[in-house]
Amino acid sequence: MACAGGAPVLNRVRDGRTINYIGRAAAGAAVEQFTVRNGIGRGGPKLIPYIGCKSGFMHIFDQLVPDDPGRIYDIFGGGGSFAFYACGRFGAKKVVYNDHNPVVANLVRTLQRDPGGLHAEYQKHYSKSSPEYYLGVRDKDLLDGTRGAGRFFYLAKNAFSGKIRFNTKNKFNSPMRKGARCPRVDADALRSLASSISGMEITCRDFAEYDDISGSFVYLDPPYMNNPNGHYNAVVGLDEFSRFVQKIEGRNRVMISEQNDPDSLRLSPGYTIFKVSLRRSLQYFTQNGSSEIIAVNYDAGHG
Ligand SMILES: C[S@@+](CC[C@H](N)C(=O)[O-])C[C@H]1O[C@@H](n2cnc3c(N)ncnc32)[C@H](O)[C@@H]1O
Repeated sequence: MACAGGAPVLNRVRDGRTINYIGRAAAGAAVEQFTVRNGIGRGGPKLIPYIGCKSGFMHIFDQLVPDDPGRIYDIFGGGGSFAFYACGRFGAKKVVYNDHNPVVANLVRTLQRDPGGLHAEYQKHYSKSSPEYYLGVRDKDLLDGTRGAGRFFYLAKNAFSGKIRFNTKNKFNSPMRKGARCPRVDADALRSLASSISGMEITCRDFAEYDDISGSFVYLDPPYMNNPNGHYNAVVGLDEFSRFVQKIEGRNRVMISEQNDPDSLRLSPGYTIFKVSLRRSLQYFTQNGSSEIIAVNYDAGHG
């Protein structure tokens, strides 16, 4: 496989498996391929701050997602950055957004169906916002259609350090940002995002229910495994995730975002691993100097 800038391909054999590391580094040195920074490059469409948000990854998706993906599944959709990106590039009718957290799925569904109503609900909270008010909203039903979505939207936009955090009962439990004013939300921007995702399928299932898909492009951005940081309502087990990947990888093109060493994911031979260096704010959970990987099971035609 050719690489951008004539970058070498480093093949490492571990436990009889070949892993292709692609990057500019000399053999044996740390390999670096992509960098994500705040304010640099094309930011993707974003609804709310979200732990693990990939809205800074658009330049990476441009390079690694093939032009003919077939149906596109964002199985751990979260804040929706990959699904929104895919809608913009390939058309919303090809895209499936899934997240098993019903609060998050309800927000995305409401945005799609009723952006005007979502904005009106947000405005109600905007005009009353205060630390006490925030705590009161946190105790209300976040699943109640447009009203619930408006509440969650308000909470997410005002959460401390952009940390959207749920307990295992899907109860949102992030504290409020200190001393900051409630951000304004532009109604036209909401409508425009809603129109770009019109026709996207939105589901709220466990990822394992998607183990029968085929002929598709599957993006997997699970909660970081081996890192039960309490941000999401659940942690995905490594064994369960590996089994799922093994079931779908022969029938689909698969792209995986993860934070752990590729070895710990127990990927089959033939995956290409890209290192992504993150130099961006804590709002997105990852601090300066940390990194993630992206693994793909197809020829990404990179460069
Ligand atoms: C790293 S986040 C995804 C971030 C997303 N790519 C973005 O840009 O906002 C992982 C998501 O997986 C969801 N999730 C956790 N366990 C799941 C499961 N068993 N099935 C489906 N989704 C799950 C969480 O609710 C969370 O939104």
